[in-house]
Amino acid sequence: MQYLAAGMAVTGSGSASPAASLDNHGLSQIVDTSDEWIATRTGIRSRHLANAQESLAHLGAIAAQNALSMAQVAATDIDLILLATSTPDDLFGSACQIQAELGAKHAVAFDLTAACSGFVFGLITAAQFIRTGVYRNILLIGADVLSRWVDWTDRRSCVLFGDGAGAVVLQANENDRLLGFALHSDGCLHDCLNVNYKGKARPLTQGMEVAQGTYQPISMNGKEVYRFAVNRVPEVIEKALFQANLSTADIDWLLLHQANQRILDAVAKRLKMPAEKVISNMANYGNTSAASIPLALDETVRQGQIKPGDTIAASGFGAGLSWGAAIFQWQR
Ligand code: ACO
Repeated sequence: MQYLAAGMAVTGSGSASPAASLDNHGLSQIVDTSDEWIATRTGIRSRHLANAQESLAHLGAIAAQNALSMAQVAATDIDLILLATSTPDDLFGSACQIQAELGAKHAVAFDLTAACSGFVFGLITAAQFIRTGVYRNILLIGADVLSRWVDWTDRRSCVLFGDGAGAVVLQANENDRLLGFALHSDGCLHDCLNVNYKGKARPLTQGMEVAQGTYQPISMNGKEVYRFAVNRVPEVIEKALFQANLSTADIDWLLLHQANQRILDAVAKRLKMPAEKVISNMANYGNTSAASIPLALDETVRQGQIKPGDTIAASGFGAGLSWGAAIFQWQR
């Protein structure tokens, strides 16, 4: 390989949301719920929803373009595009459509599926390519259009989700700004949260059949997911901090997957982190799955709150079940 092994730095962020939004009052006309119930149980007040003309790839491309502009990197200088998503426009993958839309003609592009952990899993995957010296410039996009798979008659789950995209530019750097990480999966808990494929037998020849069908709407055991998140997330952040040789006192920002404000509060309490260090924007977006962390990061950066050199503890968690944490420094 022509490059020497290097450290990784996060040098730009971007995000994009569908134009239309639905607030809790609007939702209460679809299912038997109320703004009061949703806001007190989840912290969510509104969510953006993609219409039939809006593609996941286009949302991802806008977020990516914004991240490239901030990092001042040309699309043609990107070596790899990683798209973390569970809701591609094309089951064969949507990363290549983003590559084409950006004109990133030198980049290899592929999808990575790890549900709400997708962004953190993608960050660590990207870091391996940079640390081994294989690639220097990587675009990591987290994007999801979960509204396509929500059961809009199920008030226990449809109030939680929204659509969106976020992206970061990751670049080879003299100093490694990824300070520590830990990733986990437990497939035994798959039943707690899934979008399962269901096929119906279609006979082809005698004794030979295939299963043709479609994916089922999101199925979720809310109480189990809540229990899982408040126990596993503080644990995995502490593990990543240990690897980084840091303590919670060294963290400037706690950047969790934006699933539910009660989960954020419980995790922050266990880590003894004050509320002002906890990034939260789910009130306006709901749970946007793989997009939630880069979307919240980008918003906080653009508000001028996250400063160069700030240390961020990010954690994604969700279907799989899967969970992970990454400790990194923001550098522009
Ligand atoms: N509006 C009004 N009432 C509702 C609603 C609603 N939207 N949803 C449920 N209820 C009712 C239920 O019917 C039930 O009524 P009942 O007692 O008469 O049967 C009552 O409220 C309590 O229902 P629960 O499902 O037990 O509600 P719970 O207190 O567990 O809160 C919630 C549900 C908010 C989903 C919670 O379990 C939670 O936060 N779980 C975490 C799940 C999560 O964040 N998932 C996101 C995806 S996974 C991820 O990203 C990690």
